[in-house]
Amino acid sequence: MLRVDHAGELGARRIYAGQLAVLGRHPVAGPLLREMAAQEAVHLAAFDDLLPRRRVRPTVLTPVWSVAGYALGVGTALLGVRGAMACTVAVETVIAGHYNDQVRTLLGEGYEAEAPLRATLRQFRDEEMEHKETGLANEAEQAFAYRGLSKVIEGGCRAAIFLSERV
Ligand SMILES: [Fe+2]
Ligand SMILES: [Fe+2]
Repeated sequence: MLRVDHAGELGARRIYAGQLAVLGRHPVAGPLLREMAAQEAVHLAAFDDLLPRRRVRPTVLTPVWSVAGYALGVGTALLGVRGAMACTVAVETVIAGHYNDQVRTLLGEGYEAEAPLRATLRQFRDEEMEHKETGLANEAEQAFAYRGLSKVIEGGCRAAIFLSERV
């Protein structure tokens, strides 16, 4: 659980780094992207702290996610603000759903001691939902080839989750 979350938040930070490299000076998108990136930094820091304390090693795919995340960020930002926002909507749809699954698991039997972690995941889930709302409010759905783009990004995120949970 912690390994995949760490991988996801690392990916998120890299996506925003890529988007900011292209859109950092944009008067509207720049501040929005910086705000979301700052929250991703907090999320990543939480897992950077949790992994060694819980004796979890990061996924071996960390360097892959780092490059892929940055490329996804640059690529979607090159489509414009709407493209960048469409990327956020697609990613957060998958990530928020994934955090939800984890919260549900931790509500189950045997995880009574994990209430603090559950609260953390719930808070992050809420913040990812806010990012998704930010994307929708900034015309994500009017991005070029929105449907196809969403499908591809969501599929990529699901594949990344599948792999990060295993290796
Ligand atoms: Fe996050
Ligand atoms: Fe996010």
